[in-house]
Amino acid sequence: MEGIYRSLQWCGDSLRLLDQRELPLRTIYIDLRTPTDVATAIREMVVRGAPAIGATAAYGLALATYEKRDTTWSEALGYLRRSAALLAAARPTAVNLTWAIEQVMSQVENTASGSSANPDAETESAEGLHARVLSIARRIEESDRATNVALSRHGQSLVPEGATIIHHCNTGSLATVDYGTALGVIRAAAEAHKHIHVLVDETRPRLQGARLTSWELQQLEIPHEIIVDGAAAHLMRCRQIDLCIVGCDRVAANGDVANKIGTYHLSLAAKAHGIPFYVAAPCSTIDLATPHGDAIEIEYRSDDEVLVCNGLRLAPLGARACNPAFDITPADCITAFVTELGVVYPPYSANLAAVCRRKP
Ligand code: MRU
Repeated sequence: MEGIYRSLQWCGDSLRLLDQRELPLRTIYIDLRTPTDVATAIREMVVRGAPAIGATAAYGLALATYEKRDTTWSEALGYLRRSAALLAAARPTAVNLTWAIEQVMSQVENTASGSSANPDAETESAEGLHARVLSIARRIEESDRATNVALSRHGQSLVPEGATIIHHCNTGSLATVDYGTALGVIRAAAEAHKHIHVLVDETRPRLQGARLTSWELQQLEIPHEIIVDGAAAHLMRCRQIDLCIVGCDRVAANGDVANKIGTYHLSLAAKAHGIPFYVAAPCSTIDLATPHGDAIEIEYRSDDEVLVCNGLRLAPLGARACNPAFDITPADCITAFVTELGVVYPPYSANLAAVCRRKP
């Protein structure tokens, strides 16, 4: 089943994004031409999901070099560096964003002619810089699907026949370049002809579950029901729930995880009921430089996401909201990580580092 929609697509001189703010009611694509437009689109969540914003940022850098293709190498490089800083600041929590930017910038800065210390740099063309940045962005895009398919194959072996699964937020093709991570595991289980049923956390406040995950599951013809986030613990008590699976925005070296707000309490409920709690994480989401969850910056977003729904004010005028977009799930609430290189069990400090070392 090849996705019929694309979260992002390079169009030669622009980046086309599926506007996820409009789904599921309207399928609208928007074309972006500058890194500033791309940074705004990431901040405003036209595109969202850790792997998708990483690939988007890489193409944002390709737009920067395209814009400067008729200038000098050093002028284009200067603009590329400023664009990298702008894009990296768009959202703080997902490490994939800075990972993708670093993939581009380290390869550009480390090549002989890209080095600012190199006196020959001026002789290189800005056009050559664009070709180089674009090819790295394309590689990031292409490797995303293969990574997710590999991860999902490993993960689906953890899904029993007939399983009922709780999933939080959106982690499918929309949140990645294609196929998805946690939702990819669910998709792979369905493709392996397992009869599964998904309980989709609606995921307040932006409703990524109700709006996006349900939309993707409908197209994949995977049976599911949307539940309010607060229903999960109750359903664990009175129904057979076989596992929970979520994606993540950053995994610290000790196995603590930053993911969409509500993940932590879902993990606590799963632990209390003895239900396996899996985190799907491509190696690009594992951040060995961050020792533990308390060192991860949590994004706080506008009050309006909580207080207003589709333009309708829900709360009394004057009421304020506190709106952390992510939370930290401690490592001891996580049964295992599913990566493209296999399933990783505790002790996480040793085993996450070991899996990252195996990454080619
Ligand atoms: O705020 P969002 O919608 O970008 O948050 C997305 C999530 O929390 C996902 O679970 C995570 O990025 C993994 S996507 C494969």
